[in-house]
Amino acid sequence: METIRVLGIETSCDETAAAVVEDGRKIFSSVVASQVDLHAQFGGVFPEAASRQHILNIYPIIEAALREAHMDLKEVDAVAVTRGPGLPGSLVVGINAAKGLSLGSGLPILGINHLEGHLYSAWLHEFSGDLPPEPRCPLMALIVSGGHTELILMEDHCRYRRLGGTLDDAAGEAFDKIARLIGLSYPGGPAIQRAAEEGNPQAVKFPRPWLPGSWDFSFSGLKTAVLRTVRALEADTNVEGLPVADLAASFQASVVEVLVGKTLEAAREFDAKEILVVGGVSANKALRERFWAESRLPVHIPPLSLCTDNAAMIAGAGCYRFGAGQRDGLDMDALPTWPLSELSI
Ligand code: KG4
Ligand code: ZN
Repeated sequence: METIRVLGIETSCDETAAAVVEDGRKIFSSVVASQVDLHAQFGGVFPEAASRQHILNIYPIIEAALREAHMDLKEVDAVAVTRGPGLPGSLVVGINAAKGLSLGSGLPILGINHLEGHLYSAWLHEFSGDLPPEPRCPLMALIVSGGHTELILMEDHCRYRRLGGTLDDAAGEAFDKIARLIGLSYPGGPAIQRAAEEGNPQAVKFPRPWLPGSWDFSFSGLKTAVLRTVRALEADTNVEGLPVADLAASFQASVVEVLVGKTLEAAREFDAKEILVVGGVSANKALRERFWAESRLPVHIPPLSLCTDNAAMIAGAGCYRFGAGQRDGLDMDALPTWPLSELSI
């Protein structure tokens, strides 16, 4: 089989990223410019500031990715760029950069679904030595990020069946909101994880939103329960300061229990061979450990650098899509809302 090398570009949210990947598995380079410091002052992603920062960063980041891979554009086969879902003003910066590269070099461009990118992050490895075996379909995939909580049966490469997703907040969004509520910094996920390490997960018995009979998730009731507990503690004159570590640990325990429990149940029900856990929240230590401890099936969770947004995952998905014959035109528009289930080929 001929080798496929793809330059990937990702600007769907607040990370400007570029990467070069071979055959969907080997990372030659992966460069990420995070805008966390820029958005921390707003307590969340401020869309217009994100787009403008992408404009400043995009070409230097692409150049850095090619330089680190010791390649120029002549040595790649295609440019893959995130087409959606994401912030419209951010997506178009990456898409237009890809178009510019295509016009200048004649390389084909491919628009990639960001969620498909997260799935393909589980196939990637740093380019050194032998590659471990690849995940085997059918896979039960949990995508947990700041914008999404999706349970997907991956029947084969590029073939997806959506079983369920969040009815309200995404898991990462819940982490971010609860962090703010208990006085922790943005982004909330890592802050809650750190605080939780000092806390007792059984200190407060928050509800477990199982939604029996459905593969959907809901975190709004849990959020309200935390809010009520915080307000009651604040009103209690015998309590001095919030027990932040206990609240963080108890909240995290509830989210982790439900995410792991429902994914493993779906894997059994649909006879999945293996499990994928991807997206920003899959960086969470408690979540990773619980999956590995409880699952009888192999569980693939990417290394931390590939859990949060990056372009290697876009280039990785781009390799499979390029191999399957996908090519897009210079009139390709962003798709800010783009469900995975519309993608199956
Ligand atoms: O995948 P990602 O980088 O961006 C989206 O596509 O949304 O995910 C970002 C989300 C944020 O909500 C962040 O709080 C969460 O992932 N996150 C974590 C951890 N690291 C990042 N949540 C829990 N524990 C973590 N260690
Ligand atoms: Zn993401």
